[in-house]
Amino acid sequence: MSLPWLPYFHPLLLLAALVFTLSSSFLLLLSHLKPATDGRKQPPGPPAWPVIGNLHLLGTLPHRSLQSLAKRYGPVMSLRLGQVPAVVISSPEAAELVLKTHDVVFSSRPRTRASESLSYGSKGMAFREYGPYWRSVRKLCTLQLLSASKVEMFGPIRREELRDAVESIKKSAAAREVVDVSEKVGEVIEGMIYRMILGRKRDDRFDVKGIVQETLSLAGAFNIADFLPFLGPFDIQGLTRRLEKNGKEIDEMLETIIKEHEEEQALQIREHKDFVDILLSYLDSHDDDQNPVKDRSNMKAILLDLISGAIDTSITVSLWVFSELLKNPRVMKKLQCELENVVGKTKLVEEVDLQRLTYLDMVIKETFRLHPVVPLLLPRVTMEDITINGYYIRKNSRVIVNVWAIGRDPKIWSDDVEAFYPERFMNSNVDLRGQDFQLTPFGSGRRGCPGMHLGLIAVKFVIAQLVHCFNWELPQSISPDELDMTEKFGLLITRANHLLALPSYCLAVN
Ligand code: HEM
Repeated sequence: MSLPWLPYFHPLLLLAALVFTLSSSFLLLLSHLKPATDGRKQPPGPPAWPVIGNLHLLGTLPHRSLQSLAKRYGPVMSLRLGQVPAVVISSPEAAELVLKTHDVVFSSRPRTRASESLSYGSKGMAFREYGPYWRSVRKLCTLQLLSASKVEMFGPIRREELRDAVESIKKSAAAREVVDVSEKVGEVIEGMIYRMILGRKRDDRFDVKGIVQETLSLAGAFNIADFLPFLGPFDIQGLTRRLEKNGKEIDEMLETIIKEHEEEQALQIREHKDFVDILLSYLDSHDDDQNPVKDRSNMKAILLDLISGAIDTSITVSLWVFSELLKNPRVMKKLQCELENVVGKTKLVEEVDLQRLTYLDMVIKETFRLHPVVPLLLPRVTMEDITINGYYIRKNSRVIVNVWAIGRDPKIWSDDVEAFYPERFMNSNVDLRGQDFQLTPFGSGRRGCPGMHLGLIAVKFVIAQLVHCFNWELPQSISPDELDMTEKFGLLITRANHLLALPSYCLAVN
């Protein structure tokens, strides 16, 4: 099985690392011979190699490798990732214990090189350890930035961005041109989120989507230095260099945008309040102890978490939905019929229509079951020793919840788990908002996604509009069965290749 970091190895550094590794392995091996659990029963797991433990078993698609291992070792499985003990959760019952019953113990995040470097020393929310600072950032974001009323307030922006996209796709349709759906959906969602958070139309000065994709890929990479810290100085995967470059680009972009907001505020020419304006107003009220926005670095870390949490997730989900619709023309047709019945052929979809689109809801759930875009949720770490399912898990263990494996478990979903069949959710109460542990694409509990409402609206609105306005065919006589669905693993599982399709406009209005 291939190693996920292999492409970044430099031969000389590899040699240096190897010498260091071999000389230290003997000592480490000795230390690992000591029982660390005082005889208490640890979850079963594969035998670990000296030094690297089970890192070599992760492969290039860790969600799939971990699923295979869990079939052998069970839904609560222990691994050793270098020097870090880890537990992998792969059943709804075990997920409920971790994300709900014992949520507090499992609600911290590990400090990693990526989180330190990208979040201004973990000053944001997503990678911050559990505690008063995280709580105050989370409260500010959920109440002041991502509440249902705030999300609704920015509805006109989403509408405008989507209408622009429809106009541009109409031109391609008239010219019988193939559309790069990945590019188009990326632009729309980037535009929606960028304007809401940073208050700018898409800005050619910065490649926000590119920067965020690199951030997420770095945050999701299994950095060997996090698991074998003595290899840190060698930077054998080249990740430290990439983190420094990415961090610099992020800082330049955010600093420029914040300065421009300050200048416009001083001249009193700001018409709408975006997230930068709201956070700037917190920056000015230093006196409040509960206020987490003490200086610019707090503010930038929070903005980065929101941009990176919002853009690529929503784009990736939309593209998996679209791919499944193209692959399953029966489902596409049925969804178009629902849209025709609910919205009609003479007008565009509006956000208020979304709540009446019940088949669309099923399509979204089925997509999340097969493609939970954050397949292993964000990593968590235990804050104290705990026993679950009779197994002892020690403090500071890394916790990985494999929601991807849970979505494909035949014991939960019957034998046709690989089939895309939205009707399995008909007359079912299973919801995706974090209460049903067989389907938790947004996580659950204290660390569950705070942007779920916004993410779901953006995805549903984009899909409903594009499917309502256009009929779509695969280009170059590719049959639906042949559509490429190759995955690429980072923090998110994205499509490895762009999705292309040929639109034809089908509404009765121009
Ligand atoms: C469809 C789109 C989205 C999906 C699938 C998604 C998924 C997730 C998942 C799985 C987690 C980790 C939960 C856990 O560890 O239990 C998470 C956390 C997070 N998400 Fe989302 N998300 C989406 C949209 C958004 C949006 C729109 C925002 C913000 C504007 C956002 C901001 C965050 C933040 C800040 C966290 C970290 C929360 C914490 O650690 O306290 N997400 N998301």
